Amino acid sequence: PPKNASGTGGYRGGDAERRDLRAQAEARFRSTSSMQGFSEMARERSKTVTSFYNQSAIDVSAEKASVRLTLATLLYSGKSPDGHHILSSAKYLHKELPVRIAHRIKGFRSLPFIIGCNPTILQVVRTSKTLTSSLYIQDQDAEAQFCKLVQQLLDDHKDVVTMLAQGFRECRRHIQDEALVRSFLDTTLCSRLGIRMLATHHLALHEDNPDFVGMICRRLSPKKIVEKWVDFAKRLCEHQYGNSPRVRINGHVAARFPFIPLPLDYILPELLKNAMRATMESHLDTPYNVPDVVVTIANNDIDFVIRISDRGGGIPHNILDKVMDYHFSTAEESAQDPRMSNFFNNITNSGNQSSPMHGFGFGLPTSRAYAEYLGGSLSVQSMQGIGTDVYLRLRHIDGKGESFRV
Ligand SMILES: Nc1ncnc2c1ncn2[C@@H]1O[C@H](COP(=O)(O)OP(=O)(O)OP(=O)(O)O)[C@@H](O)[C@H]1O
Ligand SMILES: [Mg+2]
Repeated sequence: PPKNASGTGGYRGGDAERRDLRAQAEARFRSTSSMQGFSEMARERSKTVTSFYNQSAIDVSAEKASVRLTLATLLYSGKSPDGHHILSSAKYLHKELPVRIAHRIKGFRSLPFIIGCNPTILQVVRTSKTLTSSLYIQDQDAEAQFCKLVQQLLDDHKDVVTMLAQGFRECRRHIQDEALVRSFLDTTLCSRLGIRMLATHHLALHEDNPDFVGMICRRLSPKKIVEKWVDFAKRLCEHQYGNSPRVRINGHVAARFPFIPLPLDYILPELLKNAMRATMESHLDTPYNVPDVVVTIANNDIDFVIRISDRGGGIPHNILDKVMDYHFSTAEESAQDPRMSNFFNNITNSGNQSSPMHGFGFGLPTSRAYAEYLGGSLSVQSMQGIGTDVYLRLRHIDGKGESFRV
């Protein structure tokens, strides 16, 4: 028999050929099974999409109006020794949560289809369990069971803001209508904040802390809460830039009044991170000699103001009206500055994934939406060439002016 070039016999060649065929068949099998996997995934996803658009329970709940309470009502509704206040709070929440969640889901449904089909966005909707359990809250056992559901809801939705930021970033180029994205995100994020405040409040009613009624701190010190977030932002900043600016706090440093820490716990770190980042990046040549950030607190009988002033060079004229847009960030530009490589190179994906210094362009717009939801405001004054002042203004819950509702 003719020998092949390598001198091996025909038989061995045939063997090799058979091995080859088998490999090909296996590859084909693998690809069909991965095709199957793929179509299963697609079917699964389309099931989620359809169930997301057709749920009569949600339609029914979404027709109902939500009942928004003032914080003064929550604060002064009083504690009863037999725990009666907890039961009535649970009853309210048990009625209210499904309605609010249904409104949110309706909001997702009214988005352009291309966004509604984004896997990250779908994931958010999927975790929006409707809590329409047949639970009838008449005693402590049922209430305890309900608390478990509420805690679960809070846990499941912990990362929703990041997921929304991610999901919208993925499909942003398909959307022409910027105003639609802004109003959807404003409403969704604020409504989420409201839901979380109510849920946290109810769970916290069980705790025995004399300074608190549920989530409301009876004597919140703005200085203390600023200090807490200064420490946090300084740690991130040092991790990223090797140093951080000193922060001085002045004004009404002794003020104490009833307020909810929760929104401040979101807004303050965002504003402090921005101020520290601007300070560090405008002094890349002298990172160990940077100007202080100054926080001023002003309290009066209607509202209180927290001003954060940095000397980080200000916000250039050409981007000033964009900084409040969702997804607007200069993170990529600064990553390209060769001097940044002296620090921790990959800044948008810095080590601490859960809370990087900057990146999504969500800090300012979300903070402003929260402040406005609480009857306050957030405004930015830039002195181009010197620095930036950000004014966070929030209404007192029991002040002279009309209070907000959550
Ligand atoms: N104090 C400041 N000084 C100078 N520029 C600022 C300041 N605060 C914000 N900016 C500019 O506004 C942009 C948007 O800020 P924003 O906080 O919304 O997003 P980000 O910080 O880039 O990302 P993240 O979502 O992590 O907050 C920033 O990228 C930055 O260019
Ligand atoms: Mg920011």
